[in-house]
Amino acid sequence: MDWKKIYNEKLVSAVEAIKAIHDGDKVVTGFACGEPFGIERALVDNYQNYKDVQIVNMLSLGDSPWCRPEMKGHFTLNTLFASQSNRKAISSGVCEFTTAHFYEIPDVLKNYICPRISLVMVSPPDEHGYVSFGTTVDYTKGTTDYCEIVIAQVNKYMPRTFGNSTKHVRDFTYFVEIDEPLPVVKDIEISETEMKIGRNCASLINDGDCLQLGIGGIPNAVCAQLWDKKDLGLHSELVGDGVVDLLEAGIINNKRKQTYNGRSVLGAAFGSEKLCNYINNNPSVEMHPIDMVNNPFEIAKNDNVVSINSCIQVDLLGQVVSDSIGLNQFSGVGGQVDFVRGATMSKGGRSIMAMPSTAKNDTISKIVSTITENSAVTTPRNDVNYIITEYGIAQLKGKTLKERARALINIAHPNFRDELKAEYARRFREDF
Ligand code: COA
Repeated sequence: MDWKKIYNEKLVSAVEAIKAIHDGDKVVTGFACGEPFGIERALVDNYQNYKDVQIVNMLSLGDSPWCRPEMKGHFTLNTLFASQSNRKAISSGVCEFTTAHFYEIPDVLKNYICPRISLVMVSPPDEHGYVSFGTTVDYTKGTTDYCEIVIAQVNKYMPRTFGNSTKHVRDFTYFVEIDEPLPVVKDIEISETEMKIGRNCASLINDGDCLQLGIGGIPNAVCAQLWDKKDLGLHSELVGDGVVDLLEAGIINNKRKQTYNGRSVLGAAFGSEKLCNYINNNPSVEMHPIDMVNNPFEIAKNDNVVSINSCIQVDLLGQVVSDSIGLNQFSGVGGQVDFVRGATMSKGGRSIMAMPSTAKNDTISKIVSTITENSAVTTPRNDVNYIITEYGIAQLKGKTLKERARALINIAHPNFRDELKAEYARRFREDF
């Protein structure tokens, strides 16, 4: 049958499409920029028609309406990565949190959480009847393989991307056409401290390395220091605007990659129009499901992988806390451990944790003798190698406990070094 006929038969209003959702259902929705807010608004407007529906998602850039008091008994949110709009709700028990490495999330969703409904956002179909998941392939595309009902918001603002990022219109249950700009993750100005951290990170990056960069101030500061490098590669769970200039200038050209040679590989894109325009119809950028992109064995197929991630706290043993502050869930593990392990397994690879030495206007040291009670270790000490602050680089693999502690104290903020040295003396029964 002509794809246009199939598409038109499935084209309904949001209110009509959500009638497929029943009381007690689990509904998985798209990640970050691919969250189908148009369909979600219809659910929120009609919340009284639903009982005990669980919304499952990861890193919402929206306002998590499911956590509002009036939603009690109607909707609950179960998130795999806390964000600004649901952190408080998690702490107060209104919203649920599930932890999993990002590369395992497709499996955790399919085989353990088992949603019946998938809500996604896609581009309009091309001339062959294929829609694109655009910025958001990660776990999102996979949900449309196993959920019984798949409802897609078709949005002209969703870019069309290459890679494993398209599906035919016959694979969806309903389409709802709602055009609205994707959420924008704007670059914040890079601070002086972040610039110093970026410089320290860049000192460990060589020509030809294959990079994983997250989003935010530190990755952008790293990007700003890479202009004298050449032939860099990109294989990253997600990227922000920071990489676009380097890609356009050919500093990142993926020439020396062992897999996907000449192409950047991503699970998701997360920025402003600048990034969306760059990845749109660009054959040099491939979007793929996260169980491939973040699989440590897949990452390690490239030589000289350098992973750069950030964290909240590091103790003197080198244990890294990145997603909780005490009992408060701040974010999620995401792909941090996936890339730490992939980079470690890569021939010539290096994993870096980069963070400012302090938080809260220099009142709190991020290098601590003991991690905050009830915080969860995100990356275990045996996985961690380079820790970087604005004060330097601590290389931990192969180091004794004393050597680790000394290396970390040497890159702590000077205001906190004396108390850390006192702890060193107490712990190791020798002066620092
Ligand atoms: N104690 C108390 N508060 C702390 C703290 C500490 N040791 N370290 C940071 N904070 C606070 C900061 O003050 C800030 O609070 P504020 O927003 O009220 O000012 C907040 O935590 C975030 O700190 P910031 O330095 O701005 O973090 P960030 O935006 O650079 O994110 C992580 C850092 C670690 C939270 C983030 O990188 C993350 O979630 N990582 C895990 C996932 C991951 O690595 N994925 C792979 C790459 S995308």
